[in-house]
Amino acid sequence: MLEIKGLSKSFGGIHAVSNCSFGLKDYVITGLIGPNGSGKTTLFNLITGSIPPDKGEIYFKGNRIDGLLPYKVAQHGIIRTFQLTRIFPKMTVLENMLLAPLHQTGEILWSLWVKRRRIRDEEKAYREKALGLIETVGLSHLKDQFAENLSYGQQKLLELGRAFMADPKMILLDEPTAGINPSLIRKIMELILKMKESGKVFFIIEHNMGVIIELCDWVFVLDNGEKIAEGKPKEIQNDPRVIEAYWGV
Ligand SMILES: Nc1ncnc2c1ncn2[C@@H]1O[C@H](COP(=O)(O)OP(=O)(O)OP(=O)(O)O)[C@@H](O)[C@H]1O
Ligand SMILES: [Mg+2]
Repeated sequence: MLEIKGLSKSFGGIHAVSNCSFGLKDYVITGLIGPNGSGKTTLFNLITGSIPPDKGEIYFKGNRIDGLLPYKVAQHGIIRTFQLTRIFPKMTVLENMLLAPLHQTGEILWSLWVKRRRIRDEEKAYREKALGLIETVGLSHLKDQFAENLSYGQQKLLELGRAFMADPKMILLDEPTAGINPSLIRKIMELILKMKESGKVFFIIEHNMGVIIELCDWVFVLDNGEKIAEGKPKEIQNDPRVIEAYWGV
């Protein structure tokens, strides 16, 4: 589904991502782990078009996507969440959700005059979908609250809901469970598994090995920008190269 070939990105003298190649398959949850600063977020930034690569190629469902602008990558069906949540604090939970769908007719100025009924029908459908997803992520009681009033964990749930709202084919999650309490971690894991059943493909950066082992079918390990291992989570956990990268022994 996602094929990365010889991808590299440097910042000055730092090789944040160095000649990385790997493929992600359909129907699996893939994990991405590695010590702090090993290049995980940079890899997501490259895939989603936030920054261009120095070298290498990225293919999604056979289409080349490296170098495209982020909104173009999103149009291919790749949606991400951020390591530090990026919600709109002065909008309600529901309004945050309604911003997510791509290609809304009402975004085009002349449609406001000539396609009023279509806009109204579309907005009604999006609203119903948003309310359904808000319920799925467990935020119904907060739907009219400003997003800034949500706890950090609830904001993560909102981001996840908003990612689903855009109907992505693949969802990239950057540390979805970092900094939140265990009961919300469980809720997020259940949501991811539920969405997997509905055909969504996930690529997840995570430091919590318990989450990786329970969720992921396959794991890639980065160290200093290089892929040092890949495999099933249980195998990876005991891989000497991985233990050395994390613990230096
Ligand atoms: N925009 C940037 N400008 C300069 N250096 C950067 C930039 N983005 C990342 N880096 C550097 O690239 C390296 C990889 O950073 P990255 O954020 O990808 O790591 P990470 O694996 O996501 O780490 P963490 O687990 O702490 O989130 C680090 O040395 C970081 O300082
Ligand atoms: Mg990161």
